[in-house]
Amino acid sequence: MSEQHAAAATFGVVAPSPERALVGDLSPLGAVAGTAQEWTARYSHALMGTFGIPQRILVRGHGAYVWDVDGKRYLDLLAGIAVNALGHAHPTLVSAVAAQLGTLGHISNFFASPTQIALAERLLGLAAPGGAPAGSRVFFTNSGTEANEAAFKMARRTGRPRILALEGSFHGRTMGALALTHKPAYRAPFEPLPGGVEFLPFGDLEALSAAMGDDVAAVFVEPVQGEAGVRPLPPGYLAAARALTRQHGALLVVDEVQTGMGRTGAWLAHHHPHIGGAVVPDVVTLAKGLGGGFPIGAVIGYGEPAATLLGAGQHGSTFGGNPVACAAALATIHVIERDGLLAHAWALGDRLKRDVTDLGHPLVAGVRGEGLLVAIVLDEPIAPAVAAAALAAGYIVNAVAPDAIRLAPPLVLTAAQVADLVTDLPAILDEAQHARTGVG
Ligand SMILES: Cc1ncc(COP(=O)(O)O)c(C=O)c1O
Repeated sequence: MSEQHAAAATFGVVAPSPERALVGDLSPLGAVAGTAQEWTARYSHALMGTFGIPQRILVRGHGAYVWDVDGKRYLDLLAGIAVNALGHAHPTLVSAVAAQLGTLGHISNFFASPTQIALAERLLGLAAPGGAPAGSRVFFTNSGTEANEAAFKMARRTGRPRILALEGSFHGRTMGALALTHKPAYRAPFEPLPGGVEFLPFGDLEALSAAMGDDVAAVFVEPVQGEAGVRPLPPGYLAAARALTRQHGALLVVDEVQTGMGRTGAWLAHHHPHIGGAVVPDVVTLAKGLGGGFPIGAVIGYGEPAATLLGAGQHGSTFGGNPVACAAALATIHVIERDGLLAHAWALGDRLKRDVTDLGHPLVAGVRGEGLLVAIVLDEPIAPAVAAAALAAGYIVNAVAPDAIRLAPPLVLTAAQVADLVTDLPAILDEAQHARTGVG
């Protein structure tokens, strides 16, 4: 059985025909020929250098696997950075997108579509156990940074000058979201940024309590700081932040762009009892996994006043709420629910953490994370070498910090695929150590 057919069998779908595989390798302009080297050179001449040199040129995906231009297969344990919840080319997602595009592809926000309305209702239904409170509303964006821009504007609409965020935070790259993002290297080249944002030590409740006041518009937090190396908020922090923001009339904004939509084994990570439990925020931002690979983001305003802070004409987006993007999100939510992927992500994440820990490899200092958002913490700062060795061995992972490897695989990952990684991981780690020290 070919790898392709094996992957297809795993997911219970019909394997792509040779014709379809060929079409998958063709760009609309018919540019098919070319080695990885040639494509990389063309990339460097045609695209800005914001992302560095691409590690591979990928042409096709199926389930949790992708293939590069040379035909090599990789187990995609990053899923486009926590995006492809259903893996690649999931038949339900593909047909939902195709059907919507073949019916009504785009309209302006002078009009609405049933797809957009249905998605907003669906999100309000899963925004809190038992549904979001009465009066809650959704605004659609195209990305995570735009969702946080909208939340930033909501904070400004309170009329208060100060916004609190946490050290290690990542909320996006546009100017408002960047102002909420802590990393100096991302911020410095673009200053001055929108003002009023103060950063507090991560997880430090005393610092939060000392900084709070009636002039604070909002507190922005991520339930698990993904870009900071998969750092969950300490238990109790979110509940205390809720109490303080309520006491001072400030908004609690929870950025679930990376952690939301099932990634951690719950619809939203703050629903986990050990993270947020019964906490109901004022604002939640979403993107990444929401569309299963189709670009879409969302802001949920929970009840009053959050849901009405942005009035008519105060915010907008040409593509926000696009019917095709909304159809993709509805299909993604449908499959997550139908296939029990929340429970699956939680159980498989546990197994992954346990099995990697049980390897007892000297380079592994620990494994942390929630559901299928996991970091393998290394004893030495050689994460880039580990990621390179993993890639050579057919695994896509991410060196999120010098000493941490991030895994954010599709939620449809199987136990057998986890077992493959666990089998191959010791050799990958040995190879990375060898590459660094020249011994091993
Ligand atoms: C927590 C969080 N917020 C916001 C963003 C920005 O999302 P996007 O890249 O879609 O603009 C990211 C992206 O990594 C993120 O992890």
